[in-house]
Amino acid sequence: MNPINSDPVVPELLKIHRVIREAEDTFTLDLLPPDKTQSEYSPGQFNMLYAFGVGDVPISISGRSSQSGGWLHTIREVGTVTRALHRLKKGQTIGVRGPFGKGWPVDLAKGKDVVILAGGIGLAPLRPVLEQIQSHRDHYGNVSLLYGARMPDGLLFSQDRETWRGRNGIQVKVTVDTGDRDWRGNVGVVTHLIDRVKFDSLQTIAMVCGPEVMMRYSVRELQRFGVPTNQIFISMERNMKCAVGFCGHCQFGPSFICKDGPVFDYPSIQPFLEVREL
Ligand SMILES: Cc1cc2nc3c(=O)[nH]c(=O)nc-3n(C[C@H](O)[C@H](O)[C@H](O)COP(=O)(O)OP(=O)(O)OC[C@H]3O[C@@H](n4cnc5c(N)ncnc54)[C@H](O)[C@@H]3O)c2cc1C
Ligand code: FES
Repeated sequence: MNPINSDPVVPELLKIHRVIREAEDTFTLDLLPPDKTQSEYSPGQFNMLYAFGVGDVPISISGRSSQSGGWLHTIREVGTVTRALHRLKKGQTIGVRGPFGKGWPVDLAKGKDVVILAGGIGLAPLRPVLEQIQSHRDHYGNVSLLYGARMPDGLLFSQDRETWRGRNGIQVKVTVDTGDRDWRGNVGVVTHLIDRVKFDSLQTIAMVCGPEVMMRYSVRELQRFGVPTNQIFISMERNMKCAVGFCGHCQFGPSFICKDGPVFDYPSIQPFLEVREL
């Protein structure tokens, strides 16, 4: 189902309500919905954002705006299209197709412990999971967020992290690869934080998003702590064009990241990790 437009390859034009600066190279677009009832999505789904005359890229929905009621997308500037999106200002228009894909297993996680591992911009697709858990906190057991970034100024959503930690009893641990003069927190890779939080490994659903190498090490560590691999979920990235399973651009072995993913349980995607493009 494509709630925003009955034809999934035709973009809807949405106006930018505001641009939020998150870090040096990272920003959030708050988009005015065409109609608030049409902006449903599941945590982990993504939209194709089209910068006119430049191109479109897949970007996860990072939450719902309390101001506009529409979608938030948190974007790291890495190349041509994300740079063009970064140049846009409040009041300008972009093309949006989506939401697409299968997201995080938030229903499967009900009644269980949840361990979330995120690296850098990887926290953006997971923020809706934490928001969902926050609004139905009694449906979940122990919940932890282990978050790492390269540098302290690359850490996203500091206010949200405080809210999750404070009111909702979520265990939040943060680390950076390299600290700066003012940094008093953990230094080291995110997997070192796993033994600092409480969870029952056999009753845990783990969700992991970040650079591929970080996801591989995270899975390995979670396994070492006894979490069964079919209870570990990761979000995959590949270049996309159609986003609806037509063009084959995002094919990953037998799966299409756009329609079968981007979130997969680890056993079904493991043979294809480290394979760049098929
Ligand atoms: C399902 C899905 C969800 C995504 N969600 C988000 C999101 O929420 N926020 C977000 O910022 N990005 C997200 N991405 C990644 C985003 O789509 C890419 O960063 C984007 O397509 C890059 O396009 P570009 O034209 O700016 O860069 P290009 O011009 O295509 O690339 C320029 C350079 O950047 C490198 N590059 C490309 N992609 C990445 C990347 N992901 N990380 C590091 N370097 C890269 C390329 O290798 C190249 O060297 C997601 C991708 C997928 C598949
Ligand atoms: S992007 Fe076309 S098949 Fe996935």
